[in-house]
Amino acid sequence: MKTLKSAQTCCASKYRHSNSASQRHNFAFNTPIPIQCSITRCTRVNCMPRDAVHQQWEDRALSKLDRRTLLSFASILLASQACIPEAKADPNKVFVAGATGETGRRIVMALRAKGYHVIAGCRDPQKALTLGFGLDKEVAIRQADVTKGPEVLAQAMEDAQAVICATGFSGVNVTKVRSVDEQGTKNLVDAAKAKGVSKFVLVSSLLTNAKAIGQEDNPNYKFLNLFGGVLDAKLAAEKYLRASGLNYTIVRPGGLAKEPPEEVGNLIVGKEDTLFGRDTDPGRRISRDTVAAVCVAALVQPKADNKVIEVVSSPSAPVLPEDQWFL
Ligand SMILES: NC(=O)c1ccc[n+]([C@@H]2O[C@H](COP(=O)([O-])OP(=O)(O)OC[C@H]3O[C@@H](n4cnc5c(N)ncnc54)[C@H](OP(=O)(O)O)[C@@H]3O)[C@@H](O)[C@H]2O)c1
Repeated sequence: MKTLKSAQTCCASKYRHSNSASQRHNFAFNTPIPIQCSITRCTRVNCMPRDAVHQQWEDRALSKLDRRTLLSFASILLASQACIPEAKADPNKVFVAGATGETGRRIVMALRAKGYHVIAGCRDPQKALTLGFGLDKEVAIRQADVTKGPEVLAQAMEDAQAVICATGFSGVNVTKVRSVDEQGTKNLVDAAKAKGVSKFVLVSSLLTNAKAIGQEDNPNYKFLNLFGGVLDAKLAAEKYLRASGLNYTIVRPGGLAKEPPEEVGNLIVGKEDTLFGRDTDPGRRISRDTVAAVCVAALVQPKADNKVIEVVSSPSAPVLPEDQWFL
């Protein structure tokens, strides 16, 4: 089985310094950003290590995603192209299902910020283009309707070494919910197995397992599940993934917010079946930026392997170091 490496090492010396202008402009933030370079202690003016650029982008671009998705995507693209790979290394390629969704697009950007190559699986490639994915040659846009079956999806996955699934049907039609949130995810799992991927990360939801743990009267479960039985469909998909033999991480978030973590709160992680969105819980909502970061971290954190975690956030929660995200 292939091993997914941390893409933190993307700045190895295979990158050479660009001879282009000494500074490029970050249109999203109206500030100059230094050209990134992988040469350790490079003495050129305005040069900074690639990881530092990543960090800068994560700190500043991710938090403003909704207002400036396209522009920030373009700016990181410009920065990343300042370092031109001389030789193709073994690619750290991740297939994102539902890449054009609110969470999926943040996962794509979080992956790119870490240097991963991405296959953006989407129903509508045109929508991916409007989000700016087409500007980045390391993001391949592939049509991937999860209802079309595992063969189609396996083809779209190409040589991806990991899959992150952020799909979800947004209506209330029971049949359609099942076809996306249950059967669609099962199709992805089957495709991932056929391709021998090394990791499958699934964005699910709090309360999927409510019935089994005596929470069927939880008002949040009752309300959410009204939408086509979506929590039951997600639970069936979770079970299928867990039985698949794939190395998995299931991330069950609370209510998803478009706002950045600074506005919503710091990450709180609970074990499987512990955070139920009740009044006594420490938090209910979580920024989609945070969920995306957790999904990407799950690719490389050994503690994330074959685990279900539940995530919410709270402004009063202390900042949780990444090595404690998977308990
Ligand atoms: N919203 C919440 O508060 C909340 C809370 C907990 C968990 N969740 C779950 O978290 C996940 C992400 O949520 P979100 O708010 O980011 O969802 P979203 O914005 O609605 O994105 C869902 C994505 O799924 C895609 N999709 C739908 N049907 C598809 C199909 N047949 N084939 C391929 N892709 C398909 C959509 O494609 P298009 O882009 O073409 O529409 C979209 O990209 C979902 O599973 C959701 O149920 C949500």
